[in-house]
Amino acid sequence: MKIGIFGTGGMAAALGGAWTTAGHDVVIGGRSQERAERTAGLISAAGHGSIADAARHGDAILVAVPAAEAPHLVGFLAGSLAGRTVIDCTNSLVPTDEGLMLNLGGATSVARQLAAAAPDAHVVKAFNLCHTSVWTLRPPTFENVPLAVPYCADHPAAAAATETLISSIGCTPAPCGGLARAAYLEATAALAIGLWWAGGQPRAAFPSQAEVSHP
Ligand SMILES: NC(=O)c1ccc[n+]([C@@H]2O[C@H](COP(=O)([O-])OP(=O)(O)OC[C@H]3O[C@@H](n4cnc5c(N)ncnc54)[C@H](OP(=O)(O)O)[C@@H]3O)[C@@H](O)[C@H]2O)c1
Repeated sequence: MKIGIFGTGGMAAALGGAWTTAGHDVVIGGRSQERAERTAGLISAAGHGSIADAARHGDAILVAVPAAEAPHLVGFLAGSLAGRTVIDCTNSLVPTDEGLMLNLGGATSVARQLAAAAPDAHVVKAFNLCHTSVWTLRPPTFENVPLAVPYCADHPAAAAATETLISSIGCTPAPCGGLARAAYLEATAALAIGLWWAGGQPRAAFPSQAEVSHP
């Protein structure tokens, strides 16, 4: 698949590297050509360029910039993103005295902000729950179980493209409903990352169905 990545940082390198290894055609797009070239070189991506170049290249786009910057960026490129799968991996989190909190300025989710900024793009929420280091595993498997990657999508073709991108790196797609439910994925990130920071084990809070008894 042709993938354009907005951003040249940790997530761009980690997920871009996983997709390049899986044989996808990845172009890294950055506001600094030096950083775009460096990240593309690190992961042996097919190419690099501006963020607009990445938007033109990708049948699927990964938005891997800070959440606060993402709506403006996606809105600016809305014309190029029409009909494309736009995957939002961002988390808008802020540490507070009460713990890690979402910072959405009244919006329900960053994903809905992106969908509003580019109404003809097919926005998907995915890949926001795990740290960059997880995406560098080949494959991301824990205790012999492939990592499940929850995603929320409204558009069937975008959901199918996201499932391909998840499966191709050895993970299991976990469909979680439409984009209205992206808010739950973003809140889950706040809760899980907050627990990790506090030394807890969010994973231990979710036993499998087989492990719990049903009345
Ligand atoms: N790090 C993680 O483990 C992780 C896990 C899940 C989700 N996420 C989410 O993924 C997103 C990216 O995280 P990251 O760790 O990759 O961050 P990062 O390493 O700091 O990289 C951020 C990238 O965004 C670019 N950028 C910042 N503002 C921009 C703007 N206005 N226009 C264009 N590009 C801009 C930066 O470009 P410059 O280099 O030019 O500043 C950089 O390439 C974030 O929303 C984060 O919440 C991160």
